[in-house]
Amino acid sequence: MNSYSSLAQAEVTTKEMGLWLCVLVLVLRGLRLQPSAAAPSFSIDYTDKCFLKDGVKFRYISGSIHYFRIPRAYWKDRLLKMYMSGLNAVQIYIPWNYHEPLSGVYNFDGDRDLEGFLDLAANFDLLVILRPGPYICAEWEMGGIPSWLLAKPNIILRTSDPGRWRMNMGATMPVTTTICATWRLSFVPTWAKKLCSSPPMAPKSLNCYVGHCTVFIQLWTLGQVNSEYYTGWLDYWGEPHSTKSAEDVARGLEKMLELGANVNMYMFQGGTNFGYWSGADYNNGIYNPITTSYDYDAPLSEAGDPTDKLYAIRTVIGKFQVLPAGPMPPPTPKFAYGYVFLPQCVALLDILGLLSPSLPFYSSFPATFEALKQPSGFMLYRTFLPHDILEPVVLSAPEDGIHDLAYILLNGVYKGTLERNKINGINISGQLGDTLDLLVESMGHINFGANESDFKGLVKNLTLGSNIVTDWLIYPLGIDKAVSHSWPPVAPLSNGTGPAFYTGFFTTLGIAQDSFVKFPGWNKGQIWINGFNLGRFWPTRGPQQTLFVPGSILSSSTINTVVVLELQNAPEKPKLLFLDRPLLNGTQISTHKNQMQIWL
Ligand SMILES: *[C@@H]1O[C@H](CO)[C@@H](O)[C@H](O)[C@H]1NC(C)=O
Ligand SMILES: *[C@@H]1O[C@H](CO)[C@@H](O)[C@H](O)[C@H]1NC(C)=O
Ligand SMILES: *[C@@H]1O[C@H](CO)[C@@H](O)[C@H](O)[C@H]1NC(C)=O
Ligand SMILES: *[C@@H]1O[C@H](CO)[C@@H](O)[C@H](O)[C@H]1NC(C)=O
Ligand SMILES: *[C@@H]1O[C@H](CO)[C@@H](O)[C@H](O)[C@H]1NC(C)=O
Repeated sequence: MNSYSSLAQAEVTTKEMGLWLCVLVLVLRGLRLQPSAAAPSFSIDYTDKCFLKDGVKFRYISGSIHYFRIPRAYWKDRLLKMYMSGLNAVQIYIPWNYHEPLSGVYNFDGDRDLEGFLDLAANFDLLVILRPGPYICAEWEMGGIPSWLLAKPNIILRTSDPGRWRMNMGATMPVTTTICATWRLSFVPTWAKKLCSSPPMAPKSLNCYVGHCTVFIQLWTLGQVNSEYYTGWLDYWGEPHSTKSAEDVARGLEKMLELGANVNMYMFQGGTNFGYWSGADYNNGIYNPITTSYDYDAPLSEAGDPTDKLYAIRTVIGKFQVLPAGPMPPPTPKFAYGYVFLPQCVALLDILGLLSPSLPFYSSFPATFEALKQPSGFMLYRTFLPHDILEPVVLSAPEDGIHDLAYILLNGVYKGTLERNKINGINISGQLGDTLDLLVESMGHINFGANESDFKGLVKNLTLGSNIVTDWLIYPLGIDKAVSHSWPPVAPLSNGTGPAFYTGFFTTLGIAQDSFVKFPGWNKGQIWINGFNLGRFWPTRGPQQTLFVPGSILSSSTINTVVVLELQNAPEKPKLLFLDRPLLNGTQISTHKNQMQIWL
């Protein structure tokens, strides 16, 4: 074992082992000058412990970037910056649930245009190391697996479970048709072996090396491949902000490159978990949701700007190979739009018909999101008090019965929040027939672990005093559709306690630039600008205090519409503050559990 092997092994955590198994294929585009007669080859030189690409010694210095965490308008800028950093490859995942939102319904358009992303990489002569899943982890909603698979409640994910485990992306993804043909053969435990034994695809306009994971694994066991050299780390809600020093990252990289290793830096740019796409980890029975920002303290920041870490890495790479000529592109311009007021407030319950246009489902006992085909977001569970409750009794969920947060309202008045693994009960009193509503929020399906069937909603029976609560009306909520197509809604104005929508407008005075939105006095919720779902905010939990607002979603010529769903209590004069820099480390966990102090 040489010194590099031990270094590599130190980097290989259990988590990485899981991720490593996802590495399937190496796709090369961009070598289009090569005559198609010469079949591409990819093998190992065992004497020198290195790859041979088309017979020539080859080493990759790669960076991870997730096209699904970056608006398409910025792909080119980020890839150019990676190329200018001296990388010769990028490593990507394909999240199955992003491309097949409903069983048999595919989406490869716009921000999901995988082929467009590969073409851009090819334009910079960047090789692509493709990790297509089906499981990708990636701190992504359910590790990339579609939650609609859980409509079969007894499915056992990430096993051979024959016939249930199928991805069928080939038809809509011509670039990777051959990969997919092999890839969807089966996902039995030996799938990797099967895939590797398939013949390489015949090159046409694209040079594609398929099925070389054996080659990867062999060189990896020789200690010459590190598929995830961590440049930083992710953040969880309610935990300290993670960072890793530029010096340490650069020093580790230099050691590996000195030993001739192939390195992929995870992440080179992290990006953002827009919408409901952030996942959650599950450790020792505790559910740990991941923040909206996936900045990762990576060499390119969440907004795609070069950091000191990027320059330190680039200097190291420059010691081993010639860097591209020319300057590093500068940071994208940022704009502090200042305060935007959100004067219009409507209670969520007052527009239930708009958010859930069909009749509610009736069920004696609670049904899950998955049973009612709700992939993410929110559902409302409604019941009526079965008798007068003069003295308060506890409305209680068994441990781990709420997935993941439930906002409780009695006759439309907000009473408090139940939270998975944290708060299981709340006192209620009222009269026969009073309306009891639980707005239940998914904070993301668990993305890591062998047995992760993480159903959402009320997953166990609730009790009121000593009686099981029965007779539920369940409303799946299509909030994103309503916000993009039917806004602002016609509804009475509300005084703003409990789940409610706040709408405001602003103009950019001709400057549509990146910005960061801060939530002074707000608690917990979701925000949309011009119908684009920027993700979850939770400043009282932290550490993240601002959300990235890509300039690409703003209009420079017309009015921009901001919609905030606050789930608990909004500030008295609801307003947002748009800044020109992020605040990702705004809270500090005190030694007392569940008590956070805001550091701003
Ligand atoms: C409910 O109220 C009782 C009596 O005031 C109190 O002892 C108990 O802690 C409360 N339970 C919850 C879950 O708030
Ligand atoms: C998966 O987890 C569930 C719930 O904890 C358990 O009942 C089941 O036995 C587990 N299945 C496997 C295959 O580990
Ligand atoms: C709720 O209780 C009923 C009656 O005991 C039972 O049939 C049902 O499975 C329970 N539901 C859940 C989600 O635990
Ligand atoms: C808002 O309205 C509810 C229901 O009418 C009431 O209980 C609550 O006290 C009001 N809150 C404020 C801040 O006025
Ligand atoms: C985050 O902020 C706290 C409080 O200011 C500080 O002690 C800590 O060092 C910061 N952490 C990082 C990673 O910047």
